[in-house]
Amino acid sequence: MINPLRGMKDLTFEESQRFEHIVNMASTIAKRYGYGYIETPILEETALFKRSVGESSDIVGKEMYQFIDKGDNDVCMRPEGTAGVVRAFISAKLDRQPVKQKFFYYGPMFRYEKPQKGRLREFHQFGCESFGEASVYEDFTMITMISQIFDALGIGYELKINSLGCVECMPPYRQNLVSFLSEINNELCEDCNRRIVTNPIRVLDCKNEKCQFHLVTSPKLLNNLCECCDSDFIELNKLLTKAGIKYTIDTNLVRGLDYYNKTAFEFVSNEIGAQSAIAGGGRYDKLVEFLDGKPTPAIGFALGIERIMELVKMPEIKREGYYMGAMVPEAIPALMTLAARKRLTDKVTVEFSSKGFKSHMKGVDKAYPQYAVLIGEDELKNGTLWVKNLETNEERTIAIDEF
Ligand code: HAM
Repeated sequence: MINPLRGMKDLTFEESQRFEHIVNMASTIAKRYGYGYIETPILEETALFKRSVGESSDIVGKEMYQFIDKGDNDVCMRPEGTAGVVRAFISAKLDRQPVKQKFFYYGPMFRYEKPQKGRLREFHQFGCESFGEASVYEDFTMITMISQIFDALGIGYELKINSLGCVECMPPYRQNLVSFLSEINNELCEDCNRRIVTNPIRVLDCKNEKCQFHLVTSPKLLNNLCECCDSDFIELNKLLTKAGIKYTIDTNLVRGLDYYNKTAFEFVSNEIGAQSAIAGGGRYDKLVEFLDGKPTPAIGFALGIERIMELVKMPEIKREGYYMGAMVPEAIPALMTLAARKRLTDKVTVEFSSKGFKSHMKGVDKAYPQYAVLIGEDELKNGTLWVKNLETNEERTIAIDEF
């Protein structure tokens, strides 16, 4: 027997219904906020992810499903959705149009991580990317939208926010941080020591307790923001408070992808174990330009569908459509014609083997229909159908033409 690859899984039965519900709910809400559906290829040039997610990130450094294809191209299965959407935005020359563009997407992402609970090698994200809006109101609107999605799915969360500054305030802060880290480097883990050189900001979110202890006194970016970043961050705090969206400021929230600036946020759940991030995102105002497009401010987020799968409160299943069955084999062709007609508007389940009344009624709830429709010898002769409304238990015999 051939099994799925490690860290990859099939979505079947109950899980696929949960998946569908999450995607439908998130898409419905995203559309209300003006987002339109976008689909980009799963396979892209490796250079796209190296340049956007960043060579020093774990995603690019260790986790890419990267290979040389038959045409000698260096390609990669997307580890995340933002880079592809930004590439598509530039490819379609939308960066040259004055209109603001908003896209939502969902689909598989691939990261060669060590599989564990909440960490798959193929997982699915639902994400949104908004282009052309620099206002902090957009940051607030996106966070509001995500809260609304989680509320609609019945999922509790904690929201953490931070500001990562901009081209003006980040470089001097980084310098400052490197000086601090270089002085305590003997106390820090191997990963942190590597990151002091490759990406010092990422040292801040090291999970090692000893490192965190020594980082308590590190310089904080929030105390070193330029005027614009500072006033936007204060405004975002005010807007969230006014809207009643609970949050905490996490000065160590730096995100694992290099393209972010200014607002960064994460939604976490304390009900799913160590891999607790259920959604994350932030601004990436320089990425379009960095990938050779016209300078365009942007902000986005993605939520991990598998991570919220077991948290989602499923709506009550309602009886729907028809169960149709025959009690004599000669009635089956008539049943097929009726079913095809009814399926133009309704859900229909047809039982192909003819059987007795009791047998039909025993199996009818598997399909959870609203009506059971049966044809027996008498009905076939008289051109009628026996119909039972399974919600009200009302039974009727009607002419076939009335059905
Ligand atoms: P990310 O934080 O890397 O951000 O991923 C977003 C979410 O995907 C995480 O919060 C988590 O729920 C889920 N996730 C990540 N890795 C795994 C995994 N190995 N197994 C299961 N779930 C996982 C991004 O990907 C950015 N592109 C988000 C974004 C969009 N930023 C701006 N626009």
